[in-house]
Amino acid sequence: MKAVRVHELGGLDALVYEDAPSPELPPGHVRLGVRAVGLNFPDLLMTQGLYQFRPELPFSPGFEAAGVVLEVAEDVPGLSPGDRVTGFSTHGALAEEMVVPAYGCFPIPDGIDFATAAAMTVTYGTSYHALVDRARLASDETLLVTGATGGVGSAAVQLGKALGARVIATVGSTAKTEVASNLGADHVIDLSEHNLREGVKALTNGRGADVIYEPVGGSVFLDTLRCVAWGGRILVVGFASGVIPEAPMNLALLKGSSIVGVFWGEFARLAPDSNHANTERIFQLLEEGRIDPLICATFPLPEARQGLAMLAERRATGKVVVTVGD
Ligand SMILES: NC(=O)c1ccc[n+]([C@@H]2O[C@H](COP(=O)([O-])OP(=O)(O)OC[C@H]3O[C@@H](n4cnc5c(N)ncnc54)[C@H](OP(=O)(O)O)[C@@H]3O)[C@@H](O)[C@H]2O)c1
Repeated sequence: MKAVRVHELGGLDALVYEDAPSPELPPGHVRLGVRAVGLNFPDLLMTQGLYQFRPELPFSPGFEAAGVVLEVAEDVPGLSPGDRVTGFSTHGALAEEMVVPAYGCFPIPDGIDFATAAAMTVTYGTSYHALVDRARLASDETLLVTGATGGVGSAAVQLGKALGARVIATVGSTAKTEVASNLGADHVIDLSEHNLREGVKALTNGRGADVIYEPVGGSVFLDTLRCVAWGGRILVVGFASGVIPEAPMNLALLKGSSIVGVFWGEFARLAPDSNHANTERIFQLLEEGRIDPLICATFPLPEARQGLAMLAERRATGKVVVTVGD
């Protein structure tokens, strides 16, 4: 099969499009004929050996794929060759075939194309889990989403609106302001022009945001400690800025706030039934037109590196998708 692989941990320049052996099919797994891959920020980190999973070299990056089941391990019930499904793993999506754990496979509803399905698993799965399971976001609450036009951020904006919340979005440049509005945000704070804390305070009569969805880290996270409402929840989703912050905990005390970790992949592994229920609800929201994933660009598999470069250079909005096959 053809695959994009990393032979040495050298970032995007070390990616090679080449022939590779088909991956083995262990018990409990399913072989997918990959048709589309959603790119994610951690794909970049994995090419540099900076992510929590470090597969043996050479490996194909890519967490999430949509495709057709080619083969099912003997101990896997309920899935058959020919089924259209989404699936995810720690790596391996940027290839014509990917082996995924069966617990993470979800049938793609009729009428939803592979690119859309591939764009939804990680980002909407993460954001739904964060907002519903971890933060218990209520419809009369204000949600602040940082990095709001990124993969997980754009999903959080749309899901926040679908859950009935008022949504404040932050972006890092003026060019992304309109994108955040089009995603459905009620208010957008452009951090290249405005201060986060002052912006949120002005929009909430000094109260702050009830729930803060935070995938950026660094100084952005530290600012959220100062604009969370009394009793609010700050969701630690990621560190796209590259800086894992160290927080002055007196601020959490003074706000009676909670700092809540979010790790969707581990949730999906440990609570697959709950993750399936969430995925079912996410696809329902899609079919009802209440969410609509933003795909800013698609690239064929041999050009996957260009898609990853868009993420690395902060040029992506929503998702970048890689298509595989015709
Ligand atoms: N906890 C979980 O289960 C989970 C699941 C998936 C992803 N994540 C994490 O969530 C984070 C975002 O992932 P993603 O796939 O949504 O990434 P993405 O699509 O690249 O979006 C990241 C956003 O962060 C902002 N940003 C600020 N500083 C940045 C920098 N130095 N470099 C790049 N972006 C920067 C960018 O918005 P502006 O340009 O507008 O600032 C960008 O839109 C990552 O840290 C990832 O590991 C966590």
